[in-house]
Amino acid sequence: MVSREGLALAAIVAGIAMLAWAGVAGRVRTSGPVVLRLPWLAAGAWAVSAVLFSLAWRTVQGAPGLLGSRVGHLALAVIAILLLAGLTAAWLHSRAGGVAAAAQFSWRRGVAVAMGALALLIIILATAIWRLPSDALAVANWPFAWRYDADLPVSPHTWHRLWLALAQSGAALALLVIALFARRWRYLWLAAAAVLALSATWPRPQMLLTEAHGTSYQRSPLAFSDANVLQGGRLYQVHCASCHGIAADGRGVRAVTLPVWPSVLGAALFDNRLEGELYWRVAQNEPSMAGRAIHEFNAVLRPEEVWQVLDYLRLQAYGASGGTGMPPTPAPVID
Ligand code: HEC
Repeated sequence: MVSREGLALAAIVAGIAMLAWAGVAGRVRTSGPVVLRLPWLAAGAWAVSAVLFSLAWRTVQGAPGLLGSRVGHLALAVIAILLLAGLTAAWLHSRAGGVAAAAQFSWRRGVAVAMGALALLIIILATAIWRLPSDALAVANWPFAWRYDADLPVSPHTWHRLWLALAQSGAALALLVIALFARRWRYLWLAAAAVLALSATWPRPQMLLTEAHGTSYQRSPLAFSDANVLQGGRLYQVHCASCHGIAADGRGVRAVTLPVWPSVLGAALFDNRLEGELYWRVAQNEPSMAGRAIHEFNAVLRPEEVWQVLDYLRLQAYGASGGTGMPPTPAPVID
């Protein structure tokens, strides 16, 4: 895992390098043909954006963190600016030949100012990453109502349609870039891109994705200590055992009075659900039983307490092995 500061530092260095390039480009006063080395700037910006992407991916640990945390959002903004700078540099390079000799100097100044402004923006965003509170990584709030689930049965037909739609959209994007750089038939390229993009038929999201909540990818932020697990056990017996049973086997005394039988809170549950979704079910369940929410424990328990209960249940279900698809549970710390 890369640290948040490491990521910020890399972005700041990239911004400073770009600023230096803009400074040099704006000052050189040759009257000859424009020698800005724009292709180098473009290649550099794209290479650095790829490096930053892989650093950010490792810092926030994958797509949920990238899309759902402040660090991820800021990193994506920096990467988008770098990609934009690269594209702009390449586009300007393709236009440089047409600049009249008299206008060379002001043209170059304009390019330098534009790139300098983008570089400053990168430095500002990178500083914002640096200054985020250190727990900014822990809470990733998944921003979509859907998520990809590798266990979802997806038919080959649906995959086929997805790949086809992706290929079509990729080709449309390529044509769009060609239209940007083309000197001739520009509208033809644009029209072809539009036709390709519009004719792509995407499979319905329900076929590939499963319902998700803000907390879907959150994990227990607590240390797996005996104090936390014991407290979780106590809270479980007070708040949950009457329905789910003292041994979490779904045989609580109130079970028979409920319209829906309470779930067994054992290994099968943890195997099939994300921890963050179990948290969501317990903390802010949607109204189910005859319009009445069963859980809604966010009104009764603090977030840490809900996690304590879940950690307790996980220990009950698996012992110290942690369970399939889960990192092994560290042995409880005796404190
Ligand atoms: C009033 C009875 C009742 C209480 C109290 C209760 N539950 Fe439930 N719980 C249920 C019922 C009924 C279901 C099954 C509902 C369903 O499938 O929609 C359920 C489902 C669940 C699930 C979801 C299982 C799944 O399939 O996704 C979890 C997790 C859970 N309960 C945990 C808890 C915890 C932890 C507590 C205590 C903090 C608790 N419950 C307290 C009745 C209760």
